[in-house]
Amino acid sequence: MFAKVKPNTQFIGQNIIYFNQVDSTNKFAFELNKQNLAENGTVVLAEYQTEGRGQFNREWISKPYQNLMFSIILKHVTKVPSSPFIVNKMLTLTMCQCIQDYLPGQEVHIKWPNDIFVNKRKICGILVENNYSGQQLNYSILGIGLNVNQDFSRHQLNATSLKNEAGHFKDRPEILKYILERIEANYLSLPRAMHDIEDQYNQNLMGYNRIASFLIQDKSVEATVVACDREGRLVLNIQGENRAFLHGEVKQVIDE
Ligand code: BTN
Repeated sequence: MFAKVKPNTQFIGQNIIYFNQVDSTNKFAFELNKQNLAENGTVVLAEYQTEGRGQFNREWISKPYQNLMFSIILKHVTKVPSSPFIVNKMLTLTMCQCIQDYLPGQEVHIKWPNDIFVNKRKICGILVENNYSGQQLNYSILGIGLNVNQDFSRHQLNATSLKNEAGHFKDRPEILKYILERIEANYLSLPRAMHDIEDQYNQNLMGYNRIASFLIQDKSVEATVVACDREGRLVLNIQGENRAFLHGEVKQVIDE
């Protein structure tokens, strides 16, 4: 099914390794790259993962043959701007833009740091694993889980899919091709468009420039989202004062 995917790219997705089942595409991509067996831009895609990994040691569970789960090996042959979170922002913004294109007119936002929500439900999770030598970013494994055709029932109110929101079945190979092309275009634009990508990332954050609810040390707080800073911290404006938070220090409350 995915064999016919031939993206119009220079390197991302020119080589696609397809599995019916694997432990984790991120893990496989990492091992392949470690053994120097991967071309730059190789995509590892699986229909089912037995040990799908999420951020902060969470797991990623997805029904087989219905969604997209893949990892991209990015070797940073040209230097990426020295901002540790930039690859993360570039990828998260790209996924947000792609989902907006597939769901025009719907509320699609980034939930800091890199989840995509549609109409207040999670549709896409991203796990970027970076490898450094000192300050130098060598390579990144970009892991993406996008809910495409899975039906999420009323009992799973916090998750959704493109099909759930659009009301009709979506073509997974076509979506994969589109995503790979958009990721490469944004990645290649990075050296000159870094500020623009950071701005657009911020503007798509849930709660950007508007009052939203957060939990800080178990206390309910009203604040506006100002930005995600260069270190990846969430900057909130609380009663006129800007404060930066690390993961675990703040939780955004999604009101129904
Ligand atoms: C999250 O929401 O916590 C991130 C989820 C990332 C899931 C994707 S699925 C493909 C790739 N392989 C993994 O094991 N994880 C990522």
